[in-house]
Amino acid sequence: MKIISLVNQKGGVAKTTTAMALADGFARRGKKVLLVDFDPQGHLTTSYGLEDENPDYPEALRLLGLDKGIEVKETVLSHNLSIITSDIGLEEANTRLAPKYGRERFLDRALRKYRDLYDYIIIDSNPSLSITTINVIVASDYILIPFKPEFNSFKGIDLLLDSVTEIQRDKPEIGVLGYVVTMADPRRRSTREAVEYVRSIAEERGGRVFHSEIRVGVAAADAPSYGKSILEYAPNSGVAADYEHLCDEILKTLEMEA
Ligand SMILES: Nc1ncnc2c1ncn2[C@@H]1O[C@H](COP(=O)(O)OP(=O)(O)O)[C@@H](O)[C@H]1O
Ligand SMILES: [Mg+2]
Repeated sequence: MKIISLVNQKGGVAKTTTAMALADGFARRGKKVLLVDFDPQGHLTTSYGLEDENPDYPEALRLLGLDKGIEVKETVLSHNLSIITSDIGLEEANTRLAPKYGRERFLDRALRKYRDLYDYIIIDSNPSLSITTINVIVASDYILIPFKPEFNSFKGIDLLLDSVTEIQRDKPEIGVLGYVVTMADPRRRSTREAVEYVRSIAEERGGRVFHSEIRVGVAAADAPSYGKSILEYAPNSGVAADYEHLCDEILKTLEMEA
C-alpha cells in the first residue's frame, strides 16, 4: 500500500480535480483506493455529490483519533473506491493538535490501520501550510504537486519544498513523486515558460515532471457540479484522455520505484 498526497499551498491548481481523476483511474485499473478529503473546504466530498453527516465533527477529523471511542465511516463511491469525507469542522484539527506531543504524526498513525485494506490511499489537502497539511505530508509515501503554469505559481513551490525537506530530515522515506502540469494551454507562452521552470526545479530538488500534461478544458470545470470525476463525466474529452495517460504514467513510475 502506498499513500500519495496532492499538495500545493496555492488554491485552484487542480489538487482536488487530480485526486478524483487518479482515484477513479486507479480504481478502474483494478486497484483498491481510499480517498481522504483532508481539506476543511470539503471540495473533494462535495465534488462527489456527498455531504459529511457531521459538518462540525467530520469523518476526516474523527480519523485523527483525538477522542476515544469515535468510529470513522468510509463511504463507498464505486467498485474499488471509497472516501473519508470532510467538512468545515476539520479546521478544529489545527487548534486541537497544536498543544499535542507528536502533533505532526496523528494522520500518519491513523492511516496505518488501512495499510492492508487498500492498494493506494490518495489524500487531498487544503491550500495552506498548516498543521493539517504537515500531517498530510508526514503521512505520505509520495507527494504529488499539481502545478498550474502561470505567473505567481513559482514562489509557493519553493516554500512547499522547504517544508518537505525539513520533514524529510525526520522521515527521509517521504518522496517527491513529481509535478503534474495542470490547466496547460500550449498556445500560451507563459505555459511553456512555466513548464521550463518547473523542470529546472525538479532537476535541482528532486522528483520528475510527468510527461502527461493536463490541458485546460471546460468539461473539467463542469464535472464537480455533476458529482463525477472528469473520467466519468466526460470520458471522451481531452482532459480525460490526459488524465488517463497520467494514471498509466504514475502507476508505471510507482512500479519502477517499488
Ligand atoms: N484541466 C482543467 N481545465 C479547466 N478547468 C479545470 C481543470 N482542472 C481543474 N479545473 C477547475 O479549476 C478549479 C480549481 O480546481 P481544483 O481541483 O478545485 O483546485 P484545488 O483543489 O487545487 O483548489 C475548479 O473549478 C476546477 O473544476
Ligand atoms: Mg481543492
